[in-house]
Amino acid sequence: MKILITGIAGFIGSHLAERLHHYGHNIIGLDNFSSYYDVHLKRENADTLKNLGIKIIERDLRVEHLVMALPTDIDYIFHCAAQPGIASSSTFEEYLSNNVIATHNLSDFASQFLNLKLFINIGTSSIYGRDVFCDEEQMAKPISNYGVTKLAAEQIVMSQSRLGHFPACSLRLYSVYGSRERPDKMFSQLISCALNGNKFPLFEGSLKHKRSFTHIKDIIDGLVSVIGKEKLCENQIINLGTNLEYTTQQGIEAVEKLLDTKILMYEQPARSGDQLRTKAVIDKAIQILNYNPSVSLEEGLHEQIQGFKNRS
Ligand SMILES: NC(=O)c1ccc[n+]([C@@H]2O[C@H](COP(=O)([O-])OP(=O)(O)OC[C@H]3O[C@@H](n4cnc5c(N)ncnc54)[C@H](O)[C@@H]3O)[C@@H](O)[C@H]2O)c1
Repeated sequence: MKILITGIAGFIGSHLAERLHHYGHNIIGLDNFSSYYDVHLKRENADTLKNLGIKIIERDLRVEHLVMALPTDIDYIFHCAAQPGIASSSTFEEYLSNNVIATHNLSDFASQFLNLKLFINIGTSSIYGRDVFCDEEQMAKPISNYGVTKLAAEQIVMSQSRLGHFPACSLRLYSVYGSRERPDKMFSQLISCALNGNKFPLFEGSLKHKRSFTHIKDIIDGLVSVIGKEKLCENQIINLGTNLEYTTQQGIEAVEKLLDTKILMYEQPARSGDQLRTKAVIDKAIQILNYNPSVSLEEGLHEQIQGFKNRS
């Protein structure tokens, strides 16, 4: 199958590309190599993919005529490109343009494709709100510009599907971690601080926050399982996470145990938009996708630590 992956140079996009290439699909990637975090890391991801023979087009989805440079005989689109995270340094305009405008341009363009089997929007549990333990029917009540704009992006894609312009689904991911995780995320920072002897910035009150930390292998298992299941997935919104739940404190302790060290901390004011709890309810993914996340936190962190060491 011919598969377009946007945001291919990022954390999730690069893992997805590797897996789909391994399964024998013809992958075309698109990324604008945004400077949200160290561009060298994205270039490294892209180089590894190029060495596998994957074509990567350097384009910005915010610019409509550049989107048009894509081929139109695509079977599946995985739309991973986004302005992620809730960093105070990211402006509303960045969320708006990279999440809403970019998705609008891409879906507008995709509506011209003749053979598109499925447009897979990569959504997020951030759209649900402050305290999340619910199925996909729950009303979205986002508390961050990230959540608000990702919800709008999702609805742009799903509205095209409802109108019959192309079949689409959205997979809402929960706290993904693993090798090549974005450097702004918790486990990347904890591992880096532990190995380099730096202090970890702990947001006030966050030790009690709870997350369904989900290893990248389990997330990619879920994403690739939509291929061939387009009739079942069309118009569906599906949570992808684990139904296990850990506090930030437990996450920190797990890294400390694996690296046999105590991580030094300094306290930062609480982050605006930080969720108290995101526990995944994955009954629908189990039913439709035969989804079966199986990587334990210990195994997953071990993989991430090895990946971090190999990269350093
Ligand atoms: N990492 C997580 O825990 C998590 C959880 C839920 C949802 N998600 C979603 O998964 C997707 C991938 O996230 P990630 O963690 O891999 O982030 P990432 O930043 O590593 O990857 C996103 C990629 O998109 C590219 N990009 C951004 N704006 C673009 C634009 N206008 N045009 C072209 N390319 C652009 C970036 O350069 C980057 O390489 C995002 O949609 C994010 O909202 C991630």
